[in-house]
Amino acid sequence: MDALTLISQDHSNLWRLATTVDQVASEIEAGAPIEQPFFNAVFDYIEQFVDRSHHPKEDDYLFRLLRLRSAEAAAVLDTLQVEHREGPAKLAALRAQVAAAAQGQLAGGELATALRDYTTGLKAHIRAEEKSVLPLARSALLETDWAELNAAFLNNNDPLFGDKAREEFRQLYHRVASLAPESVGLGGHSVGTLQPLPDRAKAEVQLRVEGMESCYGRIKALKGISLEVRRGETVALVGANGAGKTTFLRTLSGVQPMSAGSIHFKGEDISKLRSDKRMRLGICQSPEGRQVFGPLSIEDNLRLGAYTQPRDQVEGDMEKIFTMFPILKEKRALPAGTLSGGQQQMLAIGRALMGRPSLLLLDEPSMGLAPLLVEEVFNVIRMLKSKGMTILLVEQNAFAALAIADRGYVLETGTVTLTGTGQELISNEQVRAAYLGM
Ligand SMILES: Nc1ncnc2c1ncn2[C@@H]1O[C@H](COP(=O)(O)OP(=O)(O)O)[C@@H](O)[C@H]1O
Ligand SMILES: [Mg+2]
Repeated sequence: MDALTLISQDHSNLWRLATTVDQVASEIEAGAPIEQPFFNAVFDYIEQFVDRSHHPKEDDYLFRLLRLRSAEAAAVLDTLQVEHREGPAKLAALRAQVAAAAQGQLAGGELATALRDYTTGLKAHIRAEEKSVLPLARSALLETDWAELNAAFLNNNDPLFGDKAREEFRQLYHRVASLAPESVGLGGHSVGTLQPLPDRAKAEVQLRVEGMESCYGRIKALKGISLEVRRGETVALVGANGAGKTTFLRTLSGVQPMSAGSIHFKGEDISKLRSDKRMRLGICQSPEGRQVFGPLSIEDNLRLGAYTQPRDQVEGDMEKIFTMFPILKEKRALPAGTLSGGQQQMLAIGRALMGRPSLLLLDEPSMGLAPLLVEEVFNVIRMLKSKGMTILLVEQNAFAALAIADRGYVLETGTVTLTGTGQELISNEQVRAAYLGM
C-alpha cells in the first residue's frame, strides 16, 4: 500500500457518499421527510475526515512536494487548495440549510438543489485529483518524495491519519450507513475491529481450476481459465458485463457443463462430480441477482440453503445468520419478496452460509444496490473474511472487490488477462482505466 492508493480509497468512499446524498436529495424533492440525524452523520464524517484530516494531509505533503517538482502543478493545485480552504464554510452553510428545511423554513426542492451543488463540487474535486494530481505525482515525484509521502500517510501513530483515527472514520461511516433512509441504507451489523490477516500465502490450496472451458452451443464462453484459491483467502474475479464471471461460477458449482479442464477441491478431482455432491463438499453459491424464493418466508429460504446439512444443526445456524443480519430476524416470518434489494442480497448470502461453506461463491453481491448498501454488503464480506472464510468473490464493481481481496483475477471475454494481489490490481493503470471509472 502506498499513499496514493490510500488517497484513492478515500476518494472512492467519498464518491459513494456523494452519490448517496444525491439520491436522498431526489427523494426529498419527491416529498420524502428530511432525516436530520442522517445528514448530521454525513456532515460529521466529512468535517472530521475530509476537512480536518484528508485535505490537510494532502496540502502538507502531496501538494507541497508536487509544487517543488513540477512547474505545471501550481495551475491545478491552486484551485484545489482554494477548495480545501473553502470546504468547512460550505459544509457549515449546508448544515444550516438542512436545519432550516427540517423546520419548514426552506423548501425541500431548494435543499435538494443545495445538496446537489455541494456533491457536484465534491465529485469534481475528486475527479480533478484522480485525473490530474495522482498521475502527475506518479510521473514527477522523486524516490525521496515517495519515502516522505508514504511515511506521512502510512504512519499508524499519526493522530490525524493513523490506524486509530482511520478506525474512527470507519465507524463514522458505518453510522452514516445505519442512519440512511431505508431506500439507501440497511440495518446490517457493524463489523467492528478486524483481526490481523493470517499468512495466507502459505495456506494449502483449497480450489485449483486448470484450463476450464465452457460453451453455450458453439460459442465458447470460457476459453481456458486457470485460477487458485487458498484456504482463508478472499479472491476476487472481476470483469465487465458478459466477461464470463457467472458462467465460471456455474461451471464451478457443476450446474453448467465443463467442456475442457479440471477442478480440484481440497485435493480431490471433482470435475465429474454432480452439483449437489459439490455442495455437500462445501462449495456453496450465492447466485447472481439475489435469487431468493419470493413467496417463501425468510426462514424457509434459509432452511433451503441447509438441505444438505443434518437437521439438528439448522435452527442453531439460522440464529447465527440472524445475529449477523438482525433485519432478517425481524422479518423472519415474512415472504422474502417483501424485502428490499439489499435485504434480499443479505438473505441470499445467508442462505449460502446455511450450507456451511468451506468455499463461499458470491456472484455480484453488490449488483443493483444503492451505494451505501454496497458498503454494507462489503462489510459483511469483510467480516466473513476476518472469520477465516474462504471466499471467491465475483464482481463488476472491481474497486470494492479488489479492495477487500487478497488476490484478484481480471477476466475479459472468457480469458484471464491479469492477476495479482488486490492492491497491485487497484494500482494497475490498465485496470484503473478500464474498470474503476477514474
Ligand atoms: N444461457 C446462455 N446462452 C447463451 N449464451 C450465454 C448464456 N449465458 C451467458 N451467455 C453468454 O456467455 C458470455 C458470458 O456470460 P456471463 O457468464 O453471464 O458473464 P458475466 O457474468 O461476466 O456478466 C456472454 O457473452 C453471454 O452472452
Ligand atoms: Mg454475471
